[in-house]
Amino acid sequence: MPIFNFRDEDALGKVASVDTTNVIVDVENIDQLKRLQVNHLAVLQSSRPGQHLIGLITQVTRKRGIEDIANDGISEQTSELNLCKIALIGTMLDRDGERENVFRRTLESVPEIDANCFSLEGENLTGFMRTLSSISADGNALTLGKYTLDEHAVAYLNGNKFFQRHAFIGGSTGSGKSWTTAKIIEQMAGLSTANAIVFDLHGEYSPLVDPGIQHFKVAGPADVEAKRTIDDGVLYLPYWLLSYEALVSMFVDRSDQNAPNQAMIMAREINQAKQKYLEDGGQTDVLKHFTVDSPVPFKLDFLMGRLNDINVEMVPGARGEKQGDFNGKLSRMISRLENKISDRRLGFMFNGGGDVLDFSWLGF
Ligand SMILES: Nc1ncnc2c1ncn2[C@@H]1O[C@H](COP(=O)(O)OP(=O)(O)OP(=O)(O)O)[C@@H](O)[C@H]1O
Ligand SMILES: [Mg+2]
Repeated sequence: MPIFNFRDEDALGKVASVDTTNVIVDVENIDQLKRLQVNHLAVLQSSRPGQHLIGLITQVTRKRGIEDIANDGISEQTSELNLCKIALIGTMLDRDGERENVFRRTLESVPEIDANCFSLEGENLTGFMRTLSSISADGNALTLGKYTLDEHAVAYLNGNKFFQRHAFIGGSTGSGKSWTTAKIIEQMAGLSTANAIVFDLHGEYSPLVDPGIQHFKVAGPADVEAKRTIDDGVLYLPYWLLSYEALVSMFVDRSDQNAPNQAMIMAREINQAKQKYLEDGGQTDVLKHFTVDSPVPFKLDFLMGRLNDINVEMVPGARGEKQGDFNGKLSRMISRLENKISDRRLGFMFNGGGDVLDFSWLGF
C-alpha cells in the first residue's frame, strides 16, 4: 500500500515557480501558512504517477501588496503574496520493482506548475520516516517517541541497523540523550532475542526496573566489608583477570631502574603461580595451553611468598654465599603490591572472598 494518502482539499497550495531544485508554492490559505515552519517536510505531486517529490521548507513569506506599503498606513489589502520556498531532496516511489514505498535521494521528475503541495505530518510523516529506516509495520519495531517536527508522528528505530553497527546519540545538554537511552534500554529489555550489557558509569540508569533488566555493581568498600556477593548484585573482578600488561602497569613503577627486571620476574612468577594452581586442581587440559594472560586463578600468597624469597635470595659463590641476581631489586615492587592489596578502594579486586579462586568462577 502506498504510504501517502493526500486529499486535494488538504493541499497547502500550488506550485508557482520551479528552478532546478527549488520550488515556490503559492499558499492559498493564510491559516496553513501560519502553521508552516522552516525545516519541516513537504510533499509535491509529481508529473509521473506513483511518485511524490519530497522537499524541505526553507522559507515562508507573507507579503502585503506593494501599493499597500506605499499608502502610508492606510491598509487596503489589495493584494497578498503568501509564499513558501521548498528545497527538493528526493523522490518517494510507490513501487520500485519488487519493493513498495522506496525513497530515493534523487529527483526522478520535477513538479509542474499548479501541482499540489502538501505538508508532511501525522500518519504520512510516520510512514515516510518508517520507510527511511526500512522498518516493517510488524509491531515489533523499536520506537523512540514522537518527532519534534510533528507530535503525532511516531519515530521508529531500525533495531537491526542500530544494534549491529556503531551508533551515537548526540545532542546539547538537556536535549534528551539520557531519556532516549533509557527508552532504548527499556524496549531492549522486552526483546527475547537481545542480550545487552550497559556500562552505566555514573549509575544514571539504576532507577530503571524491569523483569528483563538485572542490575550489578562493582563491589565498593562497604560491599566488601559486608561480604556481599553476586546474589546481592555485587560483582568482584579478581586480580587474576588482569592481563600481563595491566598487571605490570599496576605494580611496576616504570621509572624504577629495576623496572625491566621486575616486569620479567612478574611474568615468570605469575606463570608459575598459575601453573601451580592448575596442577593442584588437576586441570591437565588447560595446563597445556595457558599463558600468562589466560584468565586462570592463582594464589596471591603464593606469588608474594615467591617474590619475597627472590628479593632476599642468597646463592653459593666462590667464597661462601653471595646475593642472588635480584636480591633487593624487588623491594619497591613488593611494597607497591602490598599497598594495593590493602587499599580498600581495590577491594573488588583483592578481597573477593574464597570463591573467586574457584576454577569455575568465571563461568559462574
Ligand atoms: N522525549 C521526551 N519527551 C519529553 N520530555 C523529555 C524527553 N526527553 C527529555 N525530556 C525532558 O528533558 C529533560 C532533559 O533530558 P535528558 O536528561 O535526557 O537530557 P540529556 O541530553 O541527557 O542532558 P545532559 O547532557 O545534561 O545529560 C528531562 O528531564 C525531561 O524532562
Ligand atoms: Mg544525560
